[in-house]
Amino acid sequence: MAIFKKTKDVELVLPTHIAIIMDGNGRWAKNRALPRTAGHAAGSKTFKDIARYCNKIGLKYLTVYAFSTENWKRPKEEVDNIMKIFKEYLEDTKSFKDENIQLQFIGDRSALDEEIQRLMAECEKESAGSTGLHLNIAINYGGRDEIVHAVKQIVAEGIDANDITEQMISDKLYTSGQPDPDFIIRPSGEYRLSNYLIWQSAYAEYWFSDILWPDFKPSDLDKAIEDYNKRNRRFGGV
Ligand code: FPP
Repeated sequence: MAIFKKTKDVELVLPTHIAIIMDGNGRWAKNRALPRTAGHAAGSKTFKDIARYCNKIGLKYLTVYAFSTENWKRPKEEVDNIMKIFKEYLEDTKSFKDENIQLQFIGDRSALDEEIQRLMAECEKESAGSTGLHLNIAINYGGRDEIVHAVKQIVAEGIDANDITEQMISDKLYTSGQPDPDFIIRPSGEYRLSNYLIWQSAYAEYWFSDILWPDFKPSDLDKAIEDYNKRNRRFGGV
């Protein structure tokens, strides 16, 4: 287990896998009389700062929710803007290569623009050898959609119903081979999971806060990890 911080009397443990719902961009912009697009631009900067910080403190896995299967319902202009921000991030390959971050995308990429799909594959390939933070970006991701996708694969392989195990389903998810998230963070004052990692988060701890995502700082993550250390995880035991 990696140690996060040592104070004079306590040692804080770092979760292995943190997942974040980057919520509150729209309200952050509204509070400043700015368009929602400005909120996503600010949210994207926060995302980069937090990913860099997670890498610096030695976190092994970070998963961020960038775009859900339900987000297509938003006005086209807003969807296009999020995709544009995402594409710019992919084009700026230096941002993860120089930092030894391994990138992976989770979700159904077939619905995305072909150029974006090509850049995603390139980023994954170029960062595959990185040994620092494993960064999953959930894009066109939905937890239920992911489970349906896994079940379809199992049926297509002709596996007998009696042979289906939990591990087999985990192995068919986009996060196959990764440890489940230990800790899920949702800022912006909402208390729901919004179809995020619903299989993988069965035993996760949750942390909610009123901070809007663009205002989220590394010091807020420190505070969340300190709270995580006060939790007593029993995994159904005593
Ligand atoms: C939720 O806030 C945020 C999103 C649906 C988009 C998140 C996208 C980014 C942070 C930028 C792109 C990401 C990458 C990986 C470069 P909201 O719009 O629902 O906010 P609201 O609830 O206040 O309206």
